[in-house]
Amino acid sequence: MTKENITSSIGKTLDRFINNKQSEFPFATGELSQLLRDIALAGKIINRDVNKAGLSDIAGGHGSTNVQGEAQQKLDVIADQRFVRALTNGGEVCAIVSEEEDEIIHVNPNSRYVVAMDPLDGSSNIDVNVSIGTIFSIYRRLSPVGGPVQMEDVLQKGINQVASGYILYGSSTMLVYTTGHGVNGFTYEPSLGEFVLSHENMKCPESGTIYSINEGAYYSFEQSVRDYIDYCKREKYSARYIGSLVSDFHRNMLKGGIYIYPKTESAPNGKLRLMYECNALAFIAEQAGGVATDGMDRIMELELTELHQRSPLFMGSKKMVEKAQSFR
Ligand code: AHG
Ligand code: MN
Ligand code: MN
Repeated sequence: MTKENITSSIGKTLDRFINNKQSEFPFATGELSQLLRDIALAGKIINRDVNKAGLSDIAGGHGSTNVQGEAQQKLDVIADQRFVRALTNGGEVCAIVSEEEDEIIHVNPNSRYVVAMDPLDGSSNIDVNVSIGTIFSIYRRLSPVGGPVQMEDVLQKGINQVASGYILYGSSTMLVYTTGHGVNGFTYEPSLGEFVLSHENMKCPESGTIYSINEGAYYSFEQSVRDYIDYCKREKYSARYIGSLVSDFHRNMLKGGIYIYPKTESAPNGKLRLMYECNALAFIAEQAGGVATDGMDRIMELELTELHQRSPLFMGSKKMVEKAQSFR
């Protein structure tokens, strides 16, 4: 190995990266940096749980349903608790919205940040050892610090996000995030217990040949979506669908592709949640040069009226999303 090889192969730790970035903003108070560190810490703990899920008694159903009527897995509930605990102890957050909790979780009224999260995404894949993820989105509250958190603090449009990201528990574990200045990815080094910069300034190819949609539901999609699927087949694109949004999105961002979860007969607004699934990943997608819409309008400009509001999602390579929309 040459000297150059050695130096270029040593990544920066997430901590150092966050510190360096903070010093680029002269008036930053360090709260957002600390919040990102808290999220990374919870991610490490969940990673440990996920890695031994088959050995400990944490696989399988929890026997409960969340506010959306979906069966909760034990790991959904554990991941939710891990995050709420880490963010509560960290003290940088005034409120949390979680897929697994009906209402706003009120935390520290003296803090400035609101976090929305999907603690475990793709939970139907937990028990079968297939990649899953965590998604998070961070907003600055609108009401004055110190007072009670209001609905308006939480129901903000995606364009107000100050940061968002995801953790992918895959063949390796990665944390990918943006603060609106590009997207960076960090791979977890288990022997060091650190996330290390591995994917600097990630960019989504402008076009690609992968389409990701649950094609089993073909006959419950609108005609325009069916027409686009038929087009993908004629073009001999590759169909790739893991069923974990984070994993499907991550692959398509690296390789070029489109992810679609359209409205269906049984889900007239789509399945995915606008706040902590669509908006969070839309921010990453746009920062990487990609696009995210509901099939027509930009995801991050959609109005939010409910915590667990759903939206159709068309996201990924710019040209592919445009093409999909041209069938409307
Ligand atoms: P969650 O596990 O957080 O409820 O999310 C599951 C989501 C998403 O990850 C995935 O892309 C989609 O549901 C899969 O849904 P279908 O099984 O309907 O395709
Ligand atoms: Mn999810
Ligand atoms: Mn989930």
